[in-house]
This record gives sequence, structure tokens and C-alpha cells, in this order.
Amino acid sequence: MNKYLLSGGKVIGGNIKIQGAKNSILPVLAAALMCDTPATIINCPDISDVNATFNILRHVGCEITRDGNCVTIDSSSFAPKKIPDLMMREMRSSVILLGAMLAKCGHAEVTFPGGCELGPRPIDLHISAFRRLGVNIVEHGGELVCEAMNLRGADIHLSFPSVGATENVMLLASLCKGKTVIENAAKEPEIEDLQAFLIACGAKISGAGSSRIVIEGVPKLFGCEHKVIADRIVAATYLAASAITGGEIEIEDCEPRHLGAILSVFEQSGCKIICKKDKIALARKGDILPVGTIRSLPYPGFPTDAMAQIMAYLSLAKGNSVFVENIFQNRYKHVGELERMGASIKVHGNIAVVEGVKSLCGANVVSTDLRGGAALVIAGLAAEGQSEIEMIEYIERGYQDFENNLRSLGASIEKIKI
Ligand code: EPZ
Repeated sequence: MNKYLLSGGKVIGGNIKIQGAKNSILPVLAAALMCDTPATIINCPDISDVNATFNILRHVGCEITRDGNCVTIDSSSFAPKKIPDLMMREMRSSVILLGAMLAKCGHAEVTFPGGCELGPRPIDLHISAFRRLGVNIVEHGGELVCEAMNLRGADIHLSFPSVGATENVMLLASLCKGKTVIENAAKEPEIEDLQAFLIACGAKISGAGSSRIVIEGVPKLFGCEHKVIADRIVAATYLAASAITGGEIEIEDCEPRHLGAILSVFEQSGCKIICKKDKIALARKGDILPVGTIRSLPYPGFPTDAMAQIMAYLSLAKGNSVFVENIFQNRYKHVGELERMGASIKVHGNIAVVEGVKSLCGANVVSTDLRGGAALVIAGLAAEGQSEIEMIEYIERGYQDFENNLRSLGASIEKIKI
């Protein structure tokens, strides 16, 4: 298990190009599995969740080559195989491969993804939608055996705008005879990115970004070349790293529209934000102001994946901020570790009250999950003295070259291999 050694007090700023979106590339890789000819994806981040997906795709016969941030997937030698439990457990969101494998060969065997650090990760919405599309699913002993008996388009109404369920239906329905309509679809930018990829591969699909997505099934899909969007959560993380240290930063290759709710919080806290076409500049000079209440909601609401990082930033505000988590049960696992650094946070169920403190102090802390770990780094950058952050494997699931990027922005940070 590796750790970061971090000396706080440096001003973090400069320019950084944001990596491709983890939550875009994962469904796009699943869609590439469905293509009869190779697909090339540009801006593919080098992170462990992507490598875990590569392992599964290779396990079922795909050939994957990487040249820098450009990845080519050839699924012509695809052979249906059960996905081993270990592979499924390595990444909960591998359930996204279910729709693609069913579309590809009409059969899929996976183990229940189970829970993760954020709490239970149910897939009931995926299962009920697949059954409406004609998939026979037998759940037994933690395993799902899925057979696409007679796939046909259907009207699917999601009781919650689940990102994964929306994506799984888009994938399966793309190669399913007939018309499928998804009502109450998730509207995240990553859904729009998946639609763009699918259309480039020959799918007939429209409406992504709205709550109603319409798919007309086609017989085949063919590989294309596609650049995935920038990772809006990684962008928010670097903005917070600069803001908490009173720096100035410009992030590139990132659509300001994708960070709307996040940029609003930075402005309310006293940061100056300037947005151009695919650039966002942030500067924080004066005090960090408290922000009232931040509620996590489906897009375009404030993203749950940015709650921990913004909480770390606002732990140094001149007053109290209230966080209300509405998506995951265990979004606050990192709070105890932030408190070891001197933060004052009171958690009551899904509500966390952050009382701003004058300063944070370096400490030995342990990452509890992907975004919680990033929050600890943000706090450590502003803390007085040295911090050791363990279990950084969580962080490396979603952040490419995190310590090198932070060092290029002025941080005193190094990775210690234990
Ligand atoms: C995606 O997860 C993201 N992961 C998550 O990012 C993100 O936090 C989440 O969407 C919400 O935006 C990827 O895209 C790989 P959901 P997903 O289905 O699809 C409940 C990160 O840090 N639900 O929108 O799993 C679920 O329990 C990760 O990058 C059901 O009840 O999220 C949760 O409370 C973390 N039944 C809520 O919906 C279902 O069948 C949102 O889940 C599915 C979901």
C-alpha cells in the first residue's frame, strides 16, 4: 500500500489540462465491446479503474492497445465468459458491462457488484429495465445469469435517474429490435458523451442530457474514433486544491457547463471565476466565505462526487457550511480523517455541519474512498506541517498522475511506495 508525503503551506496554482472522464470512459469502453470493428478512444485516462475494465475486456477476448492517452479496442475475438468475482469486486461499476455483453452475444454471467466504500450499490433498476427489454435474469448465490431470450424495445421509466442504469439501457437497447424510450433518464454529461460515441458507431439514439432518451435499435455497430470529455470531478478537485491555498489556477480542456453547480459554490465562497470556451480560471485572494447549504443531487445539481473535496476546502471558511448528501449512504467516511487534521465537522445522518477553523495541521491520515482520499490531499495542501496519506490506491482509481500534477502546480508532495 502506497502513501503520499505532503508538506502543506505552498500556494497551488498554474495551468493544468484535465484528464479524460473516468465516468465517461467506462461506459464508452463497454460500448466499444459491442462494435464489430475496432474503436479508438482518445483522452483515455491511465487510472486503475480503467485498467480493471481492460482486464475484464481482455478476459472475454478483446484486444486492447494503448498509445499514450489513445486506446484501441478490437472485440472481434470476443468469447462470452463468466466474469470472475474478483474482477467484479475490483470495480463496482463493472455492472456497466452487463448491457454490452448481452447486446453482443445474448448472454452474461456476473456476480452481484455488492457494496463499496460508499455503501450499498444496488442494481435493481438495471435488472427491472433489462427484464422489460426481454432479458431473462436468474439471481442465485450472489450471481446473475442473464439470457437475452427475445430482445425488444420497451418503454422504461426509471424510479431514480440512475447514471449506470441509464447507460446500461442505452447500451443494450442500441442493438435491440424496436424502439426504447427511457423516462427519468440521468442527465449527466457522461450520458451525453456515451450517446455521442454510440451515434458515431451507427446507433440511432437521441435525447441524452434530457430526462427522455429515445433509442431505435440497429443490427450492428461499427468502431469509430472518439475523444471522451474531461473529468469534471477531477477538475473540481484541482480547483479546490488551488482555492484552499489562496492560489490562481487555469484548467484547460474542460467544459465550464459541466461544473455549473460547483463553480457557483466557489464564487459564493469568494473565489473569482472566469470561464472561456473550454477553460476555467479561478483565483482566491480574500477569506474563504461559508456557503450556507450544499445538497448533492443528480445533474445538473451539485455532484455527490465533489462533496468531500469541497468540504475540505470549506473547513477553513470564516463560518459554517452545511452539506446534505442525498445519493450515497457513506459519503462522509473521510470526516474523521479531516478532523484529525483539525477540521471541525459534525455529522448527523446525511447532514454534515462544517464549522470553519482558522487553520489545519498536518497529520497521518488514511484514505477511506476515492473522493474522500482526494479531500485529505486538499486539506493537507493547506495544513501547517507534514501529512502522510495512506491507502492512496483509492485515489489512484480515479486520478491520473495526481502527485506529479500537484507538484507541477507548486505542491510539495511525493509518493512513497510501501
Ligand atoms: C455513477 O455511479 C458514478 N460512477 C458515480 O461516481 C456517481 O457518484 C454516481 O453515478 C452518481 O452520480 C460511474 O459512472 C462509474 P447511480 P452509479 O446509479 O451509476 C441508487 C465516482 O466517485 N441506485 O446514479 O452507480 C444508488 O444506490 C463514482 O466517480 C439504486 O437504488 O450511480 C444511489 O443511491 C462514485 N438502484 C443512486 O441510485 C440501482 O439499480 C445513484 O446511483 C442503481 C442505483
